[in-house]
Amino acid sequence: MDQWIEEPGRDPGDLRELLVRAAEHAAAFRASLPDRPVRPQADLAALREAFGGPLPPGPTSPEKVLAELVAAAEPGLMGSPGPRFFGFVVGGALPAATAADMLAAGWDQNAFNAALGPAGIAAEEAAAVWIKELLQVPPSASVGFVTGAQAANTVGLVTARHHVLAEAGWDVERRGLGGAPQIRVVVGDERHATIDRSVRLAGIGTDAIATVRADRNGAIDVVDLERVLASGAGRPTIVCLQAGNVNTGACDDLRAATQLAHEYRGWVHVDGAFGLWAAVSPAKRHLVDGIELADSWACDGHKWLNVPYDSAFAITSRPDAHATAMSYTAAYLTGSGATTGGADYTAESSRRSRGFAVWAALRELGREGVTGLVERCCALAQRFADGMRAAGFEVVNDVVLNQVLVGFGDDARTDEIVAAVQRDGTCWLGATTWRGRRLMRISVSNHLTTEADVDRSVAAIARIALSRA
Ligand SMILES: Cc1ncc(COP(=O)(O)O)c(C=O)c1O
Repeated sequence: MDQWIEEPGRDPGDLRELLVRAAEHAAAFRASLPDRPVRPQADLAALREAFGGPLPPGPTSPEKVLAELVAAAEPGLMGSPGPRFFGFVVGGALPAATAADMLAAGWDQNAFNAALGPAGIAAEEAAAVWIKELLQVPPSASVGFVTGAQAANTVGLVTARHHVLAEAGWDVERRGLGGAPQIRVVVGDERHATIDRSVRLAGIGTDAIATVRADRNGAIDVVDLERVLASGAGRPTIVCLQAGNVNTGACDDLRAATQLAHEYRGWVHVDGAFGLWAAVSPAKRHLVDGIELADSWACDGHKWLNVPYDSAFAITSRPDAHATAMSYTAAYLTGSGATTGGADYTAESSRRSRGFAVWAALRELGREGVTGLVERCCALAQRFADGMRAAGFEVVNDVVLNQVLVGFGDDARTDEIVAAVQRDGTCWLGATTWRGRRLMRISVSNHLTTEADVDRSVAAIARIALSRA
């Protein structure tokens, strides 16, 4: 029996109090971020216990469910939207984008197509125009709003697969890959691991991957690219370039590499999960010079644009190929009046209206705000590097963007220091293995981070590291 619905005087359609309460919890958490320990308070075992237990036999009132959820989750929340979270590559969520995303849940709109979710589609279309303008990719490009750069890489590679096989006279959508001309995927030694997963998901298989040497900061070596391209000339070829090495921030020479790849009739996909945003900064724009020449791009909203999770863009220079590779049709869709867009550019059918939050983030920041965000994060990363050097530690990479790698001597000591910094709670960052060494990896990607946050974090890291000397 649905007891809570039966409560006298209760209107089950009236969510006001519940949503206000939820918003208050979210706001209180966000307000606490500058002062609370960045790490969660509870460990996973305690959180499993708090969430676990038997399936309730009957209903619970929404108010009670909300209270239970907050009680179970709060101790396990990571301060990742806060100003001293430097782990992975994680942006904080901007205020208007956060509110827009809460509305997206409240409005519960399906951005499948314009017949079903016209407002969500219109927001995506407007945001897509602005994103293309900011990233300086062709205005005619198609944009799919997807969950993350992983999904955007997959959409890019599936579209690339369509194109290079069509060029070879093979209809992969109809015939599949069995018996198809063998595709080759040329990637840098230091591509992001999601590229390999996308290659697998596209059915191409990782045996098809040919790797190109990386230069000293982790960008592709264009001379070696020519060697690799020449060795497989004539085969359908996809070249995956990178803007923003996840360890060092290094960006491939997009202009030279794309021109070369096109000479070999390759499709060029750029994984620019965070690094593509260098395009908005006059000071950093040279890092992605030639961006507009590529054939597809993957870029996150939830990293450097500071849109709440999840949000990313699968962009291609060929809307027809994009839609042919990704879309489907069905009898119930014919005559709906919907134009191409929405789900046609993604691997999803029903979809959250992600465009609201992206649109809100871009309106909130404007061009100057996006540029300022990127340039501030880069300057703060440089400040981090300077601070670590001044404290006597080794900065291993060329800090070209927002990523900093720090060495503390041997691997075990580095891991121990990273773990101790995480426990300390002043800030949070992770470790990585780069060029055979364990290193502390710092990413500055949040609009809230200030110089004081960086200085406080440097001081905490130095205190912890020196106490273990
Ligand atoms: C270069 C690069 N590509 C792809 C990804 C995957 O992005 P997401 O987790 O948003 O799917 C990342 C994440 O850090 C990245 O840095």
